[in-house]
Amino acid sequence: MDKPRYPVRIASDAEQLVDTAYGIVQAALSAKHADAPFSIVLSGGATPEPVFKKLAQDRSIDWQNVHFFWGDERSVGPEDEQSNFRMANEALLRNIDVPEANVHRIQAEQPPEEAADQYEEEIRRTLELDAGESPRFDLVLLGMGEDGHTASLFPGTQALDEQERLVVANDVPQLDTTRVTLTYPALNAARQVMFIVSGSDKSHALQQVLYGPEHEMPPAGWVQPTNGSIIWLIDEDAVPKKATATSE
Ligand code: 6PG
Repeated sequence: MDKPRYPVRIASDAEQLVDTAYGIVQAALSAKHADAPFSIVLSGGATPEPVFKKLAQDRSIDWQNVHFFWGDERSVGPEDEQSNFRMANEALLRNIDVPEANVHRIQAEQPPEEAADQYEEEIRRTLELDAGESPRFDLVLLGMGEDGHTASLFPGTQALDEQERLVVANDVPQLDTTRVTLTYPALNAARQVMFIVSGSDKSHALQQVLYGPEHEMPPAGWVQPTNGSIIWLIDEDAVPKKATATSE
């Protein structure tokens, strides 16, 4: 396969990756109607943190109608240094004027199944979904691990097979933990998905996602919006070595 399976934008370095990611988020927010709600799903991990900090500095953004969700959460409380919420709160949320009611944290300090049920109910209530209706998140930010996981959809875990629920508690034996994660039905109904991937340690998994045979594709490769757009924003270090993706 010569062409990448999905649209790819290559940033020359980690700094340009942050600037480009910020620009795409800012553009999506600016395109929304002033009084229309906008739902954004934040990713965890380390890569998005500088993007969140840059967004927090942009005083032109009106956050009043923006609703924040998360793609997944570790089984920790909101103050724990492992918490995806904590990272986003410190980098972005506590530095902007967003209504507290618009911040839909995964209450992962609860037992995972309870946290998953509560979060699914909150998504359905906030987005006013009918029974069985999937959420049309306006923008979903995702990262990818070296093993090709995204959110907490890890290789070989049960959540990969979930076709009904939007949120599940997913046992991740390779981390000896259970995490709360959005499922493919929740992710693939989005209007816009942006992966932000940095570093040479991700290039093998990216090769599998962008160029590999389907039977070898890791979980991140199965994020395929059914009626939305997807962009893989990567830096030069993450470019699959065998592929010759076009540079930006
Ligand atoms: C998490 C994230 C996870 C993350 C990848 C990449 O909870 O860790 O949801 O899916 O996006 O592991 O993480 P880095 O950006 O730290 O490489």
